[in-house]
Amino acid sequence: MATFSPLLCIIIFFLAHLPEFHSTSNTDFNDVYKSDISLKNLQDSRTWEENFKNRQVYVYIDIFRSLFTTSPSFASLCISASVFQLPDRVKAFDFSSKKLRKMAAALSPTNIRFGGTYADFLHFDPNGVDDSSFSDMTLEKLEALHVMDSGYFADDLDRKSFKNVTLPGSRWDNMTRFCDDVGWDIMWDFNLFFWKDGLWDPTDANRLLKYSAARGVRIPSFQLGNEPNSFKHNFNFSIEPPVLVKDFQILKDLIAEYPQYDASGIYGPECTNLDRHGSSRQYLIKFLAAGGCDVVTEVSLHHYYLDGRTATVKDFLDPKVMDTLKLQMDYAYNITWGNCKLRKPIRLTETSTAYGGGADGLSNGYVAGFLWLDKLGLSAKYGVTHVFRQTFFGGRYALVDMNLNPNPVLHILVVAVVIVVVVIVVAVVTAAATVVAVIAAAAAVVVVIAAAVVVVVVVVITQQRQ
Ligand SMILES: *[C@@H]1O[C@H](CO)[C@@H](O)[C@H](O)[C@H]1NC(C)=O
Ligand SMILES: *[C@@H]1O[C@H](CO)[C@@H](O)[C@H](O)[C@H]1NC(C)=O
Ligand SMILES: *[C@@H]1O[C@H](CO)[C@@H](O)[C@H](O)[C@H]1NC(C)=O
Ligand SMILES: *[C@@H]1O[C@H](CO)[C@@H](O)[C@H](O)[C@H]1NC(C)=O
Repeated sequence: MATFSPLLCIIIFFLAHLPEFHSTSNTDFNDVYKSDISLKNLQDSRTWEENFKNRQVYVYIDIFRSLFTTSPSFASLCISASVFQLPDRVKAFDFSSKKLRKMAAALSPTNIRFGGTYADFLHFDPNGVDDSSFSDMTLEKLEALHVMDSGYFADDLDRKSFKNVTLPGSRWDNMTRFCDDVGWDIMWDFNLFFWKDGLWDPTDANRLLKYSAARGVRIPSFQLGNEPNSFKHNFNFSIEPPVLVKDFQILKDLIAEYPQYDASGIYGPECTNLDRHGSSRQYLIKFLAAGGCDVVTEVSLHHYYLDGRTATVKDFLDPKVMDTLKLQMDYAYNITWGNCKLRKPIRLTETSTAYGGGADGLSNGYVAGFLWLDKLGLSAKYGVTHVFRQTFFGGRYALVDMNLNPNPVLHILVVAVVIVVVVIVVAVVTAAATVVAVIAAAAAVVVVIAAAVVVVVVVVITQQRQ
């Protein structure tokens, strides 16, 4: 219970302040917003302290208007495939833990992406044994190299330490049951590094589908490979975009053979940071132009703002940093408009504050809430269908740490879910017509974002005062 006391405080804070949230009707929302919490204020030379010391900050939330509408699972989650590979993580992520299940269930409905760099080293074996001595790549070694979970390797990485690892059927069973129990929809990233005659070999994928279909495992979404635009840099080989399109077609044909999976979505090509890498933009353009629009349900992209090794607290509060995502979305929109007959929807399938496993003491702190909430708002504005947060577990940007204790950012997300429920209940009670309730539900995302901003602001101010 101790674990949840900060959460309870925050919920109580919101409940206590609900009347204030309602008083928007006789206040000019925009004026209040601008004068007190606009992040743009941070661009001037004043520090946080000068801005906010000894000042009371009120945030007014209009629950009867919505700016953008999203799906209930808009804020989704990633778990790196390393959770099946790194012995420390395999051991720590105990699917049977009641505590873990409670925290996971608090975030549903959501999608969970199992993927990333490690996905391309995963082999499925229905009868495999669960052997936690399979990798000599320890977490410590990875942390020292700052490469964990980031697709763009540092030059000093010993690439040979990425070893093929077996995912045994028994572990798959436990994991899929866990997802089912907590209300998580799986997005599974297949290993693209199987080759036959110059194209992807789906034998291993077929093994997993056959095994899963026989057990009634739900897999609503599939992917193939991870950040193909970085293969040359990371692994010294390339998969040309037209070849990748053919590989996706092979995956599409494969799932069509299974009545359980033929309606599942396929999401690719996992290009990363269009804002920063011209080569990534070129890869996406070539992929779509070669027929990519016809083989994916939505275009999937990755985005990181910062390098975990160098990021500072100032970066985490800098609107210029926040706007790099805006640049990525502008590119993504122009490219998908220009290269598909019907513009493809976009989802961010792996995104966080800083690559290289996150920035120590920042990515897992309350301060990371600003980048996260700005990302949710901006993505909603651009019509992004889902935003997958790297990660639920594993790395410094994790919501849950290696001892299965929640990091501060988890509270922001859980509070967001609670606020949605509270807002809907309040709307139903106060408004006689159910129509208003529906409108309020649509407003929920904006409310969530604003409400969670309050959490961050309050926490930051509290810290400033101490
Ligand atoms: C799967 O779960 C069962 C029951 O909780 C446990 O005994 C077993 O060790 C787990 N196996 C794996 C591979 O995680
Ligand atoms: C790892 O698996 C890939 C296929 O995914 C295969 O091509 C490669 O040879 C394997 N490497 C080792 C060292 O077994
Ligand atoms: C990359 O691959 C090429 C040929 O495929 C080889 O000649 C070269 O030595 C490799 N570079 C590194 C750094 O391994
Ligand atoms: C996107 O296209 C618009 C309209 O052509 C153009 O003004 C804008 O600069 C483009 N943005 C990017 C990032 O390419």
